[in-house]
Amino acid sequence: MSDPLSKYRSARLPRYTSYPTAPHFSDAVDAETYGGWLADWQNGSSASLYLHVPFCQQLCWYCGCHTTVTQRPERVSAYAALLRSELALVAERLPAPPPLTHLHFGGGTPTILAADDFAGLMTDVRAAFAVADDAELAMEIDPRCLSDDMIAAMAAQGINRVSLGLQDFTPAVQEAVNRVQPVEVVAESVQRLRAAGAEKISFDLMYGLPKQSVEDLCRSIELAAALEPDRVSLFGYAHVPWMKKHQQLIQEADLPDVETRRQQAEAGTRRLSELGFVPIGMDHFARPDDPMAIAAARGELGRNFQGYTTDIAPALIGLGASAIGSLPQGYAQNLSDLGDYRRAIEAGRLPTQRGLSLSADDLLRRSLIMQVMCGERIDVSAVCAEHDRPLDAVADAFEGLDELSGDGLIEWNGQQLVFTEEGQSFRRSVAACFDSYLKAGKARHSLAV
Ligand SMILES: C[S@@+](CC[C@H](N)C(=O)[O-])C[C@H]1O[C@@H](n2cnc3c(N)ncnc32)[C@H](O)[C@@H]1O
Ligand code: SF4
Repeated sequence: MSDPLSKYRSARLPRYTSYPTAPHFSDAVDAETYGGWLADWQNGSSASLYLHVPFCQQLCWYCGCHTTVTQRPERVSAYAALLRSELALVAERLPAPPPLTHLHFGGGTPTILAADDFAGLMTDVRAAFAVADDAELAMEIDPRCLSDDMIAAMAAQGINRVSLGLQDFTPAVQEAVNRVQPVEVVAESVQRLRAAGAEKISFDLMYGLPKQSVEDLCRSIELAAALEPDRVSLFGYAHVPWMKKHQQLIQEADLPDVETRRQQAEAGTRRLSELGFVPIGMDHFARPDDPMAIAAARGELGRNFQGYTTDIAPALIGLGASAIGSLPQGYAQNLSDLGDYRRAIEAGRLPTQRGLSLSADDLLRRSLIMQVMCGERIDVSAVCAEHDRPLDAVADAFEGLDELSGDGLIEWNGQQLVFTEEGQSFRRSVAACFDSYLKAGKARHSLAV
């Protein structure tokens, strides 16, 4: 029997870590625009900070992140100095050091930083921001790239949440993606991190990888769960070889088909639930007492470029090549090319490449799309009213919502929508109904499920 939902599964849609999404950014936002936004920072308004480290020791062939391989520590050190200079450029535009509630080192592989460079950066962060006592200070970790010095520096600087990239433990899958990382390597990293006081540990797992079966994924989940993480992310592999050329190294014939991906997503969700994790949004899972599970239950879950978050600061400042900032006025993305990024900073300019100023219509649709990505029940007419707009302002979404309702993924009464259990993994399809840029645009995206 043909699957009536296959049209949604095979659709290619954005992940909606922002709205409008990054392909719609343009050079209408430049360093001057972004500098003006920073100068207009509302006094006392809190910030979160994202620092991007675009280096890894080895390339995973599935990687969709902005990163480059290097074996040269001096190159990473030089980059850390640029991050500190960029932070100074931002700080001198802010009227006063804002309270900082969240900090996230992402990549690439932030643990490739030399411990001293990392400590120096943190000193500058503490000078530029008033770091809250209960701030979440997070770092992404490649377990294959984690020195004792770095673990000690992270503990000394108060890093209190770490996320480790695991993906899948099956040897054939690891070879097919050029990331050989036995479970012992992860177990040893977790043990060293815990010995140094790390309390909150998250793992990244993936489905849809080459040569990966449903059983491989479930076994990997069990091995991961035995290490007792607080959170697990289960990402569907986004295969976009037209954007990430190295993904062409993955044999397409080895990739699971749409039906196997569906089975993997379902079996993975079921197994993680059986193991005591609460599903959150589309791809996150957390222990019931984890702040993310609590935020989700209270309807306070947020979404940013790292995915789901408990961060509700009104502004996110992004530092580093390709990093995106999100201020109340709009989005600003830094230059991705490392040479261009360096030249801008050395010339004393903010390294902004492009962005987008949010219109009233963007703000309305962004509220709706973020609620669709994070919540269970969305009162579309109430959200429109909060934005002083009639329900008709998003009438273009109704046809799609009617169809999703007819297919049993949501209940939709013309004013409110509620996800059915089956609809949970189709949030991108629901969000897409409200996306006016997608309707007009030509950007290509990854599979929706
Ligand atoms: C920056 S990496 C995490 C830290 C470190 N670089 C590592 O890999 O261990 C972020 C995560 O994004 C996920 N990821 C990377 N490329 C992806 C892709 N093409 N599709 C879906 N998820 C992807 C992986 O789960 C990966 O752990
Ligand atoms: S998945 Fe992580 S370690 Fe692998 S290439 Fe991407 S950023 Fe680097």
